[in-house]
Amino acid sequence: MRVIIETNSQAASRRAAHFVADLVKRKPDCTLGLATGSTPQMLYRELIRLHQEEGLDFSQVRTFNLDEYVGLGPAHPQSYRHFMQVNLFDHINVAPANTHVPDGRALDFEAHCRQYEQLIKEAGGIDLQILGVGTDGHIAFNEPGSSLGSRTRLKTLASETIRDNARFFGGEEKVPRLAVTMGVGTILESRRCLFLAFGPHKAIAVRDTVEGPITAQVTASALQLHREVIGVFDEAAARLLVRRDYYAEVERAQCLLESGKLRELGIGAQ
Ligand code: GLP
Repeated sequence: MRVIIETNSQAASRRAAHFVADLVKRKPDCTLGLATGSTPQMLYRELIRLHQEEGLDFSQVRTFNLDEYVGLGPAHPQSYRHFMQVNLFDHINVAPANTHVPDGRALDFEAHCRQYEQLIKEAGGIDLQILGVGTDGHIAFNEPGSSLGSRTRLKTLASETIRDNARFFGGEEKVPRLAVTMGVGTILESRRCLFLAFGPHKAIAVRDTVEGPITAQVTASALQLHREVIGVFDEAAARLLVRRDYYAEVERAQCLLESGKLRELGIGAQ
């Protein structure tokens, strides 16, 4: 995993937004995997700014969201469909028909999940998957113990997740018990992942994801098996990483490579 540590979440979100914008410019009909939660909010704000001020064009982009609460329709203020409309879709020129969020009110979830996977396949797969992480190290709603080969399916929320999200619902008892979520296996098939985490409450999850053993108890750790993950963290979330100095060295080298300063890396030196 490439690890980028920025001083704060604003800088980290701007950095992350550039990876998304570069892809959209390079491949205007790309497929983005999108996440909800507080973590990607600033990244979405930056994408909106790039669209409104710099003309970043989403007209051909397709999107697939990671997950949705079971029982919540698009009009529910806590549904992830509603979140995406308010935080991104309503402010950019993405075609509504090109945006996909699992349906929390499907009647036949097995068929719905199969169809969701099929739609991703028909779109050519996900080019860039944006990911946050739960405090227990879950990605999407793949709670601890989820199969690392799992596909889109129903998942029972862990008590830690219910507790973390209670603030949005006005009490733990109001948080849905089930969610429909892309599986870890689905996420691992995306071409590139942008893994974001900000704040001191994410430090353990980040350490376990990046430097811990690969385990179904921390489903984000499966990202170690992915061929191209870019982790973008703020200082607080990266605090417990042991190999921070090395990650900074790698970034320095990457920077020199990108700016063509090859000699400084010993490339082509006599
Ligand atoms: C939920 C979502 C995840 C998200 C996590 C963290 O569990 N299903 O996709 O990463 O919350 O949320 P936040 O970014 O608000 O910390």
